Amino acid sequence: MEIRRIQDIDVQGKKVILRVDFNVAIENGKAKESFKIAAAKETLDYLLARDCKVAMISHLGRPDGKVVSEFSLNQVVTDAELILGIKINFVPDCIGEKVKESLEKLEEGILLLENVRFYEGDEKNDADFSKKMSENFDIFVQDAFSASHRKHASVTGLAEVLPSAAGLRLQEEISQMTIIKEHPIAPAVAIIGGAKIETKIPVIKFFEEKYDHILVGGKIANEAIDQKIEFSDKVILPVDFVDDRLDIGPKTLEKFKEIIMGAKTIAWNGPLGKFEEEKYAASSNEVLEAVIASGAYVLVGGGETLEILEKNNAMEKISFVSTGGGAMLDYLSGVSMPGIDVLKK
Ligand code: 3PG
Repeated sequence: MEIRRIQDIDVQGKKVILRVDFNVAIENGKAKESFKIAAAKETLDYLLARDCKVAMISHLGRPDGKVVSEFSLNQVVTDAELILGIKINFVPDCIGEKVKESLEKLEEGILLLENVRFYEGDEKNDADFSKKMSENFDIFVQDAFSASHRKHASVTGLAEVLPSAAGLRLQEEISQMTIIKEHPIAPAVAIIGGAKIETKIPVIKFFEEKYDHILVGGKIANEAIDQKIEFSDKVILPVDFVDDRLDIGPKTLEKFKEIIMGAKTIAWNGPLGKFEEEKYAASSNEVLEAVIASGAYVLVGGGETLEILEKNNAMEKISFVSTGGGAMLDYLSGVSMPGIDVLKK
């Protein structure tokens, strides 16, 4: 599918409303992770080099259409300025006069508008809300792959009311996901962990068709065993565990590592044990070591899996780290991605 790209439209000097995904974990009023914020940099630099006036919009958490201070995007401003190297002017609303005035006054840096989910119109993809958000802007740039599975006003609705195009990060995510989805080099291995087996079954089914081995760990392995879910021989469930099934056991780990070392393509989403507790992070850490040592093309996604990479200082050692968690699973499972479909030529 061909999509409209920012390189294909004239953005010079335009007022741009840019959908990013700053839905990051917050601790003590500050961003706990930097990766998703840094992912906005390339597109921002591209737009600023073309004298655009840019306002970033994002959601944070699930405030259900209400103003909830613990979900204010104000909390990410200081970190985002450091990570992006740009002065950020926070606007405490995402529609109306405050946005208009801030845009008119903007001389240095960019704007970050308040959480779009403080209005219920966002998740409802309300046309009137999209219209209000679009006022004052010439172009909508969608750069949030990780929110592209959401049919929300700030992801799809704005593309209905403004000329729109995909940012550079979104384009890169799609092209890397295409390698994993359409052209994996065999032996291709998927590692799937985390929780909620019902959300992972579609992606396991996808990998069963296209990949050689699917290694399943984490809580979903326990759920699959307990629910007696049947898979093909390609799917390898743990044969032993640590403690109360809080991590995969040594025999399983050895088997997983052996398969990983022979892989040419690896896709990984979800931890293999209760990694928040150091004692049960061992398998995820060792699997990461094997993944890096394998020399395979590796794509990793999912917030918790990224935490494992960050803890091990391994972000730079992975071929491509996706911002997508649920979006990655949906994209690979073949579920429609409204935030990408809306940009198709
Ligand atoms: C994510 O963190 O996966 C995205 O930001 C989407 O968030 P959501 O599941 O609250 O829509």
